[in-house]
Amino acid sequence: MKSESQVIVRPARNLRGSVTLPGDKSISHRYAMLAAIADGPSRLENYSTGADCASTLGCLRSLGVKWERNDGAHNAIAVQGSGLSLTAPSHPLDCGNSGSTIRMLSGILSGQKFVSEMTGDESLSRRPMQRVIAPLTAMGAQITSNKGRPPLCITGADLKAIDYAMPVASAQVKTCLLFAGLFADGETRIVEPLRTRDHGEVALTSFGVHLDRQGNEVRIRGGQRLRGIEARVPGDLSSAAFFLCAAALFPHSQLTVPSLLMNPTRARLLDVLIQIGVRISVTQLEEVHGELVGTLQVEGGKLKGAVIEGADSAALIDEIPVLAAIAPYTEQGIEVRDAKELRVKESDRIAAIAVNLRALGALVEEREDGLKIPGGQILHGAELQSFGDHRVAMAFSIAALRAQGDTLILGSECAAISYPAFFDTLQSLVER
Ligand code: S3P
Repeated sequence: MKSESQVIVRPARNLRGSVTLPGDKSISHRYAMLAAIADGPSRLENYSTGADCASTLGCLRSLGVKWERNDGAHNAIAVQGSGLSLTAPSHPLDCGNSGSTIRMLSGILSGQKFVSEMTGDESLSRRPMQRVIAPLTAMGAQITSNKGRPPLCITGADLKAIDYAMPVASAQVKTCLLFAGLFADGETRIVEPLRTRDHGEVALTSFGVHLDRQGNEVRIRGGQRLRGIEARVPGDLSSAAFFLCAAALFPHSQLTVPSLLMNPTRARLLDVLIQIGVRISVTQLEEVHGELVGTLQVEGGKLKGAVIEGADSAALIDEIPVLAAIAPYTEQGIEVRDAKELRVKESDRIAAIAVNLRALGALVEEREDGLKIPGGQILHGAELQSFGDHRVAMAFSIAALRAQGDTLILGSECAAISYPAFFDTLQSLVER
């Protein structure tokens, strides 16, 4: 059994300082997988420090890919690409807690000439996989599962291209199918119901793959070879979100975040924060391997309210927990609609948010596809659960900064899934 830890979060007066974030989780996964199937070496600096991205590296090693951490200070890894053919693993591939690992890697494994099994922890074993099983099966792979959930057993095949309209807006599924498309005979066409994060497309292009993109449609021709890259992964915006929302809570906050990912398909949080009254400026904008990166300066202010719905809910899916956690401190509150996907994340995030907000003494209306959280509330410290979900643990440590009294967060170790240094970094930024 894994040991559980807990943290006490005391109320804060202010947030001040500069924080450089570990590399973005979404990009780290994609770079590692593509580096593994590229021709020649890649060097990836500022690779995510989270356990999820380590799960991807662990699976790749079991598939015969050689990689090493070659510079502790820059979290760099050197990957020796195996070309498109990986080696049959001698045991099941452990994806840990990582939905990105199991879903995206299944695209590559479907094009291999061997059978592989992918497993995960208790939370991952509950998550829906039919969204990748159905299209990969249509491409010719044979996949068995536990009623649409992990473990997945994938028998690779000579894949054929498909024309696929995705029923669920999911960048993991889109990326999985683009990866599978590399191994398919012909041109695979994927249409998304909404435009999701495009790191898969951007990364493939950096590795030398040609794609055709138009609106919500992307096409990829099979048989293309990849060339290794040297890249620095931009700072993780979804991890930065916790500090940005913490800064938002205090009118005298001043926070600087250098080298932060600002890809427009990921940066909707910045628009929402500006809309609710946070002052944000961006300098040193540049494009690195097709990803927009910049330095952010944030000052807190009086917070109005917001309604998050439609395409915005998909674009903000990883940031909704922390926006919901600060919602009671806004003037008009925050309402989240069209976010049913939150129920099938690392935990049922809608339920987890409602339970924890209520424990802090907040009023909240839980709905099937979202939450309505009134503003102008005063919260008190309480004992909260992480529900084994990294984003829930971190979100509620931010809510605790403005509560009256101390808050205990049980199961706080799960923050390491995406951001092991989170609590230490938060501690270094808050003024009390
Ligand atoms: C991710 C996509 C999102 C997100 C997850 C990372 C990605 O999941 O919640 O944290 O890197 O593509 P879905 O694809 O399930 O929406």
